[in-house]
Amino acid sequence: MTGERKQERKQVLVFRELPEHQLARIQAVHEVTLANPRVPQQADAFRAALPSAQGMIGSSYRIDESVLDLAPRLQVISSISVGVDNYALAALRARGIMLCHTPGVLTETTADTIFALIMATSRRLVELAQYVRDGHWTRNIDEKLFGWDVHGKTLGILGFGRIGQALGQRAALGFGMPVLYYNHHPVIAPQLAAHALAVSFEQLLKRADIIAVTLPLTDATRGMIGAAEFAAMKPGAILVNGSRGAIVQEDALLAALDSGRLRAAGLDVYMTEPLPQASPLRTHPRVVALPHIGSATHETRYAMAELATTNLLEALAGNLPPAAYDLRKA
Ligand code: DGY
Repeated sequence: MTGERKQERKQVLVFRELPEHQLARIQAVHEVTLANPRVPQQADAFRAALPSAQGMIGSSYRIDESVLDLAPRLQVISSISVGVDNYALAALRARGIMLCHTPGVLTETTADTIFALIMATSRRLVELAQYVRDGHWTRNIDEKLFGWDVHGKTLGILGFGRIGQALGQRAALGFGMPVLYYNHHPVIAPQLAAHALAVSFEQLLKRADIIAVTLPLTDATRGMIGAAEFAAMKPGAILVNGSRGAIVQEDALLAALDSGRLRAAGLDVYMTEPLPQASPLRTHPRVVALPHIGSATHETRYAMAELATTNLLEALAGNLPPAAYDLRKA
């Protein structure tokens, strides 16, 4: 049976824009309130809808205990994201509220984005494209503008879940990069077994030329890369972060860039998003800063919305959704 069978119409709060077709699937079986709390004009409507909400679907907004306190009828939150760091996990578990997310459908796209950051930082693509735009290309460039080869460099991947493994596959099989990874549990990835080596966190920092962060944000990973970790990296290493900004201490990152310890940083995520206007990361000459676009392609964002909608409908119908997050891990 699918979530679209005849059933009691429930109250659903959609807290981020959904593609029309997905919204229509929900409206066909439930009463829908659309209110994005990040849009100032919709914040009151969001709060007003909480007391009756039985299902919520959206992303990019912190749902903490103060929000849950206002939503006593809530049965399920369906997040249009794979990351679940915006949700008060222990409180959801304690209240018996199901959480769903969107693993799998964004893996390849996010790995593409992280690899693009590796290429952009190593080969100085953004800086050199700007050089052409600005009309500076009037003769052959000299070595001051040369980049750094990617092929043959050792890639250290922090976190070796779906996205870390997809990144490892690109690096090892496509670019001839030896891959080291650090993961809580060693991972047997058959296609990578001969190409990727599990190492300790310390070994990864010490041996990798390029370090890519693909870990989830948890209490254990928050602030995990700070001054001591930058000091332990190879001089001239590159750091790329495509998971969550709060894993890297930004003041320590800036210090490592300014001291020359780090060659460059490629960032898709930040401690505060959108990145504040005053952040030096916006304009730092050796930072490639993207606006959190890991999964932002037409195809993948649609697939995420579709999976999140299915998760919501199945959960509200009393069925097991395809991607419920295991809150026992909370
Ligand atoms: C995710 O799915 O977690 C992406 O980072 C988008 O928030």
